[in-house]
Amino acid sequence: MRNLTEANLTEAVLARTVGCEDARTRRMLQSIIRHLHAIVREVEPTPEEWLAAIRFLTETGKMCDEKRQEFILLSDTLGISMLVDAINNRMTAGGTESSVLGPFYVEGAPARERGTDLAAEDSDETATFRGRVLTPRGEPIAGAVLEVWQTAASGFYDIQDPSQPPMHLRGKFQTGADGRYEFHTLKPVSYPIPTDGPVGALLALQGRQPYRPAHSHFIVSAPGFRRLVTELFAEGDEQLDADPVFGVKSSLVVHFKSDGTDARGRPHFLVEYDFVLETA
Ligand SMILES: [Fe+2]
Repeated sequence: MRNLTEANLTEAVLARTVGCEDARTRRMLQSIIRHLHAIVREVEPTPEEWLAAIRFLTETGKMCDEKRQEFILLSDTLGISMLVDAINNRMTAGGTESSVLGPFYVEGAPARERGTDLAAEDSDETATFRGRVLTPRGEPIAGAVLEVWQTAASGFYDIQDPSQPPMHLRGKFQTGADGRYEFHTLKPVSYPIPTDGPVGALLALQGRQPYRPAHSHFIVSAPGFRRLVTELFAEGDEQLDADPVFGVKSSLVVHFKSDGTDARGRPHFLVEYDFVLETA
């Protein structure tokens, strides 16, 4: 095949995918080719502009290592992560709504006892999260695992900040027969997503602010139920309607009830929230 033109180039490239044996992969590959060609036809980039796009993706890749995931950040800030999430988590039975995983999840968080203070070494405002993991019919789910992670008061996750011990403010809690969970941690704060890389430059280009509303991350799972990846957001946060990764849902906004001071004399807040898992 030669002498290809604007008119038939796309079809020629699509025809070369026939050797891809897996039908699902072939379909995705064809869709990517079709859409990328459509973008080029619509935008008509100059060679310099196309090179700038390639340079942007190259820089995004160079920014990634075991601790920094610039591509997830790119996906998040373009709304792709939340779109994939929405498509894959169409709740039909009243289950707790999902939200982005984000780029700071770390596998292997340690199992902790119910009530553990994840912030035992910190001196900032604290919060107790407690509630139940339930079926859509309101029955407690025993043996559900609730995994949590969040930033320190500095706005940094442990993996971004060498001054924090590994697995700081991360833990896995298992519910008992009553479906209950409880843990003590820091009151989450609003923090900016990293702006020192290509994604930060892309946000600035659009005049977008980088601060996420204060939140804690959760993964709740139990055998026979759909795994829930979600976040709880602090009521009243100024960035609730300006989240740079589009993750806020009203049902995930919680009240931090002022509750005096905790056992270490730190200002303390209480959050009561039940997670509802839909059956798999
Ligand atoms: Fe986060």
